[in-house]
Amino acid sequence: MLAEVEARTGPLLKVEPAKEGFNSEIAARLFTETGSVYVKGLRADHPRVWTQRREAEVNPYLRGIAPVLRWRIEWEEWDLLGFEALDGHHADYAPGSPDVPKVARLLVRLGEVPCPGVELRHAEQRLERYAAQPDDLAFFAGDALLHTDLNNANVLVGETAQLVDWAWATRGAAWLDAGYWVIWLMAAGGHSPESAESWASKVPAWLDAPKEGITAFAVANANVWEEIGGAEPDPWTARLVTASKTWAAYRRTA
Ligand SMILES: Nc1ncnc2c1ncn2[C@@H]1O[C@H](COP(=O)(O)OP(=O)(O)O)[C@@H](O)[C@H]1O
Ligand SMILES: [Mg+2]
Repeated sequence: MLAEVEARTGPLLKVEPAKEGFNSEIAARLFTETGSVYVKGLRADHPRVWTQRREAEVNPYLRGIAPVLRWRIEWEEWDLLGFEALDGHHADYAPGSPDVPKVARLLVRLGEVPCPGVELRHAEQRLERYAAQPDDLAFFAGDALLHTDLNNANVLVGETAQLVDWAWATRGAAWLDAGYWVIWLMAAGGHSPESAESWASKVPAWLDAPKEGITAFAVANANVWEEIGGAEPDPWTARLVTASKTWAAYRRTA
């Protein structure tokens, strides 16, 4: 496999394993004579190997908001993606952080990307089992391209913020990414629901979102995180369970 990679990159000078991100079986920055490349890979028989194709297919539509995919190698038992390596840091979502307005601008720009005609998950299907009532699902449907995993470790901030990890790219209502961001602003940044929603409102689509739709989304995500957390959530997941429940409770009384 090394030979396959070096055929694209030239000789490797150094390999630095990624410190964060626990989904990929291979995640590393490769240093070459001409620069560096970030590689993520899964085995061809991995149940989530379809996410490699999803990332590869959406990438050409994301210029300026995501690193360029330079190559994909599907070779024997491996599926590897080689991205332009970004130097930014993980977004700091805390109130007052200069990263937060940059992420708001990133989401505004993402909202301007027409949804590509590639195979994508559908938001209303992903949330089907979690909505309080079946009628809520219509709120989540739409034809916008969504990222849906606004974990601050998926946002690299330099001069601008860029989004990595498009494994869960989805088609749905245009305001949903701002909604996913609310939960992460609360969980990772410690925002109150009011503060998180005021950042979401920088995204034009949020202002057009039906109020009951936002509430239904908050409730559905509280159910998602409760299921992920199970009986004994790890500290990170516990923060998401609390944030999503707090938001849903706030919406119900707002
Ligand atoms: N193009 C890139 N340049 C630099 N670092 C990256 C790049 N893509 C991802 N990373 C880093 O690797 C981590 C894991 O990558 P990610 O695509 O999120 O994979 P995972 O599916 O494992 O979460 C990210 O949180 C980020 O720190
Ligand atoms: Mg990630």
